Amino acid sequence: MKQNVFQLLRITASYDSNLIIILFLQLNSIFAMQQRPEQLPMQMKFLSCLSLSHLYELEQHLDRFLKSASMAKIPLPFNRSTIRSILIQTVSASNCTQGSLRYWLSAGPGDFQLSSSGCTNPALYAVVIESPSLQVPSCCRVVTSSIPIKSPQFAVMKSVNYLPNALTKVEGEENGAFTGIWLDDEGFVAEGSNMNVGFVTKNKELLMPRFDKILSGCTARRVLTLAEHLVAHGKLSRVISRNVSVEEGKMADEMMLIGSGILVKPVVQWDDKIIGSGQEGPIAQALYDLILEDMRSGPPSVRIPIPY
Ligand SMILES: Cc1ncc(COP(=O)(O)O)c(C=O)c1O
Repeated sequence: MKQNVFQLLRITASYDSNLIIILFLQLNSIFAMQQRPEQLPMQMKFLSCLSLSHLYELEQHLDRFLKSASMAKIPLPFNRSTIRSILIQTVSASNCTQGSLRYWLSAGPGDFQLSSSGCTNPALYAVVIESPSLQVPSCCRVVTSSIPIKSPQFAVMKSVNYLPNALTKVEGEENGAFTGIWLDDEGFVAEGSNMNVGFVTKNKELLMPRFDKILSGCTARRVLTLAEHLVAHGKLSRVISRNVSVEEGKMADEMMLIGSGILVKPVVQWDDKIIGSGQEGPIAQALYDLILEDMRSGPPSVRIPIPY
């Protein structure tokens, strides 16, 4: 028997502000998605990790969500605290304790036209996707992307304007790599398809490109903070964000991809260049452990408990 999308993805709850309900979905239930003429370009999607019954970095993702909504000129269907509460309630209704919460904002059902002026009500959607275990980091290859990077105005906001991102990911996969890596308009290292990039230099600095032309990743920002522990223990000399040339990146001792979908993933080859020892480096491993520990027992600013 064919599986529907909810079974395939292990979606355990969904929210739709048009229907004003939270659905608890039995995995074997048949569920038909309503087709609506949404203003597709005017949507954005977000992912917050759900771990051990806590939502990780919900506040940070929500801040970026609201900022992006304003930049995309999507009016909010509710204020911040109501959106926050709906998201928490959706996770609570799912009974899911490990997985991810993905949410969208849209200009709402409309008239199939380009402008959102024909859309009556902005809409919020959310789904909870169960995943039994967290990703264990495995080493990967990356390739320089040939897909043009988005201009800074669109790269710094999260939206569904993600065709370039999707093509960069597919191009990477077609070349036997995990993803493509973008360079910015000046030729400096930018980011991956849906993840940030970090390096460990020969001087043991944790180095990341600045966030002014790329998405300000919640995970990368948290990694920058958590990495101060490694500075305190002498494993890193300092943590810094600045322009990174391709040559410097390829000569680094370590390279890693960072994002809420992958946490910290070591890169051992970029194009034809082997990075460092060609194996997972100690700093990538330590940063992954720090993020994992933060998800399990970090401060209330990054962990929101779910009342089941
Ligand atoms: C283009 C891009 N860069 C970086 C990231 C990583 O951001 P975060 O850590 O908030 O998931 C994402 C996440 O989707 C992204 O789409």
